[in-house]
Amino acid sequence: LISFFTPNVLAGHHMLVTAGPTFEAIDPVRGITNRSSGKMGFAIARAAQEAGAKVTLISGPVALETPRNVQRINVQSAQQMLDAAQEHITSANILVATAAVADWRPATTATEKIKKNPQEAVPALHFVENPDILATLAQSPRAQSGQLYCVGFAAESQNLVEFATAKRVRKGVPLLVGNIGPSTFGQDDNVLVLFDEHGHHTLPRASKRTLAKQLIREIAQRL
Ligand code: CTP
Ligand code: CA
Repeated sequence: LISFFTPNVLAGHHMLVTAGPTFEAIDPVRGITNRSSGKMGFAIARAAQEAGAKVTLISGPVALETPRNVQRINVQSAQQMLDAAQEHITSANILVATAAVADWRPATTATEKIKKNPQEAVPALHFVENPDILATLAQSPRAQSGQLYCVGFAAESQNLVEFATAKRVRKGVPLLVGNIGPSTFGQDDNVLVLFDEHGHHTLPRASKRTLAKQLIREIAQRL
């Protein structure tokens, strides 16, 4: 019965999903993060598992239950997410990068809580750029030789078609999934626009669960 409702289009495949925000520490009690809920990535991990894939889910800090039979690895920072992804990508053949990775992190992390000091100026934050997890893995020999299929995401607040078309090429991925953010963050539904080498087409507004299932079929068709 289950196989009737969920065709095993990803049987024999291993998908790695990055999800949620990252958290970049300033000191032991403070940090920089964003409003990603992780819902889309978790829905994709669940749908992939239901479609027969082995699924590894690398998640930043989110308040979500781990989907059944999905291996979950919790991380905080972009660097930790990259390290975990590089460790687990070796056995995966599909990467879906939904994480809202912080583009920058504080250049230094204080080991003690930074105290107010009326004698000094307020602290200034200096940033350095984080590694690009998707671009790093998409440029790996396994991705370049077709053994790893990479799917990117992009939340754009404007010019979705123009920005996402360029982003797909810049990231070097065959499929990039765009959505109009940040209004989608934390919501239970979404609209997805799929960009590939042929152009783009829209998956109309639906629950993230439904969209995840549709996206799994789109990915399976392209493998
Ligand atoms: N991504 C990533 N590592 C980063 C930044 C982004 O893996 N350090 C991934 C995201 O998970 C997503 C894709 O790259 O799949 C696009 O992320 P996005 O933030 O839209 O693109 P950026 O290249 O960071 O460009 P910008 O934020 O300036 O639009
Ligand atoms: Ca970014």
